[in-house]
Amino acid sequence: MAFIRPYKPSDFEGMSHICRETLNPALLPSIPGRRLAPYVWTHQYTHLSPATCFVVDDGSGRPVGYCIGCPDIAAFVAAYDSYTTQVLDPSPEVTRPDDLELKEPLFLPDGSVNAVVLSRLAYNPHLLLVDGNADLLAEYKATMHIDLLDEYQGQGWGKQLISRFVESIRDVPQRDGGVSKGIWIGVAGDNGKVVPFYEKQGFKIKQRPVESKTYFMVREF
Ligand SMILES: CC(C)(COP(=O)(O)OP(=O)(O)OC[C@H]1O[C@@H](n2cnc3c(N)ncnc32)[C@H](O)[C@@H]1OP(=O)(O)O)[C@@H](O)C(=O)NCCC(=O)NCCS
Repeated sequence: MAFIRPYKPSDFEGMSHICRETLNPALLPSIPGRRLAPYVWTHQYTHLSPATCFVVDDGSGRPVGYCIGCPDIAAFVAAYDSYTTQVLDPSPEVTRPDDLELKEPLFLPDGSVNAVVLSRLAYNPHLLLVDGNADLLAEYKATMHIDLLDEYQGQGWGKQLISRFVESIRDVPQRDGGVSKGIWIGVAGDNGKVVPFYEKQGFKIKQRPVESKTYFMVREF
């Protein structure tokens, strides 16, 4: 029988699989998109903040869903080198881009994914989480991702995973001694169908997709 448990290092490949199977529709057809996505949205949380990462175990040890994240994005960014040197650099699936600061669109004019931009997002947590988000980060210092394989959706696991995650981050002190109101997340504009799920879990839309093509949502503790 399936149950929720903390992440463990042997889940690494299973986490990649879940991330790739549940990618948003714009990235799903892209081979580099599927290869790189877990390095951009999954593995840094399990590497840097394993105590706040949870999986649904199908009962045989295999992860079939997760809610992963961190309580303090500033501390997460400060510790990021460990992810770069221990996970990204040794991985045959990722190539370190030359210019880590360059800002380019993720999609090329023909609609395909620019793999270098994804690698840059994996290597540069400022591009991924900080740039352009100063207003959000001033108040909401935690972030998370949740994904479940198709056959485990719609059975209450998402709701339970979020509760477990929130419990794990609620009382974690902030590195700078400041106070966090809660969590912010980005939901891809073309995955707007999940917004009602988040609203049921206490999230509110802070900003609708405009130029960024992302819904920003927040939840107070
Ligand atoms: C979105 C997702 C995490 C939700 O998890 P889930 O386990 O399917 O959701 P749950 O069964 O826990 O649902 C909890 C509640 O939300 C509701 N809900 C779930 N999905 C919903 C949707 N798309 N629209 C409206 N309500 C929804 C459920 O009816 C349930 O309501 P209840 O508490 O009144 O019974 C899951 O469907 C998923 O992984 N989807 C694919 C990946 C993805 O899009 N991840 C989010 C990226 S931003």
